Amino acid sequence: MKIYITRQIPDVGIKMLTDKGFEVDINSEDRPLTKEELIEALRKKPYDGVLTLLTDQIDGEVMDACPTAKIFANYAIGFNNFNTEDAKKRNVMLTNTHGGGADRVAEHTWGLILALTCRIVEGDKYMRNGEYQGWDPMLLHGTKLAGKTLGIIGTGRIGADVAHRAKNGFMMNVIYYDIVRNEKIEKDLPAQAGFGATFYSTVEEVLKIADVVSIHVPLTEDTHHLMNETRFNLMKKTAYLVNTSRGPVLDENALVSALQNKIIAGAGLDVYEFEPTLAKGLAELPNVVLTPHIASATDEARLDMARLSAQNIIDVLEGKPAVNSVI
Ligand code: GLV
Repeated sequence: MKIYITRQIPDVGIKMLTDKGFEVDINSEDRPLTKEELIEALRKKPYDGVLTLLTDQIDGEVMDACPTAKIFANYAIGFNNFNTEDAKKRNVMLTNTHGGGADRVAEHTWGLILALTCRIVEGDKYMRNGEYQGWDPMLLHGTKLAGKTLGIIGTGRIGADVAHRAKNGFMMNVIYYDIVRNEKIEKDLPAQAGFGATFYSTVEEVLKIADVVSIHVPLTEDTHHLMNETRFNLMKKTAYLVNTSRGPVLDENALVSALQNKIIAGAGLDVYEFEPTLAKGLAELPNVVLTPHIASATDEARLDMARLSAQNIIDVLEGKPAVNSVI
């Protein structure tokens, strides 16, 4: 079997493939390939499987460059870079790394929430700039979380992990919106004494009530610009917004306006609409915390993702069902 990997991933995944006797070729450039380069690479050999990254746009044209490939296995939880319809038409399997790194993304989400509400980045800058003159009763007041309400949009594995930490770690009330009511999260986090997960049937209701809103939906046509000017306007002026899902779920220019006009208190982002470019004005705002799409960047998560993506390829090429099929 021949496998193409679009960029270096941890060795453990590559070894799983070579241990099976598969021939593995890897893009030797330390950057994502352009679509043209990827097509050219895939035309070189009759590859049986391709291991892809979230930066690779995999559509029918790419699939047709390698008609022998039975599987495109993403080394990512998100899979908006796949054209699922094109894959279905060609009977090509698509997989993700669901289950690898979700807890880490939840931790990173909390990192952003705490950085905002404890004003950690502003405080760090203040210290490094030599501005600190000694304890000041009015300096950099943040926001207490205990007893406040976290609004979660999307309660898949990551959203649910964020909710668990809200209730059990920070004594927050949790409200959520999802396209279907999540009975498991309500059972796991019963709404006793004001804390627990409570379902709202519209995004709008969650936005009006929550003190912190955290987005955990996949990027689809339906969720593109889920957060737009109208919806920012519904949020409390004191509320924070955090996004560790996919950038285009937020209208980033509208978010910059909302932050500039103090429609909301602040935002923590790990993903961007025009990645790697930031919307104009975003980086100049003091009330945002920005990280470079690293929510799942730990050795543990990356090793799990390498193992899972390799295992998906092995399973499909050995004729078994793929655990992480996304179509
Ligand atoms: C990262 O964004 C991922 O989808 O794994």
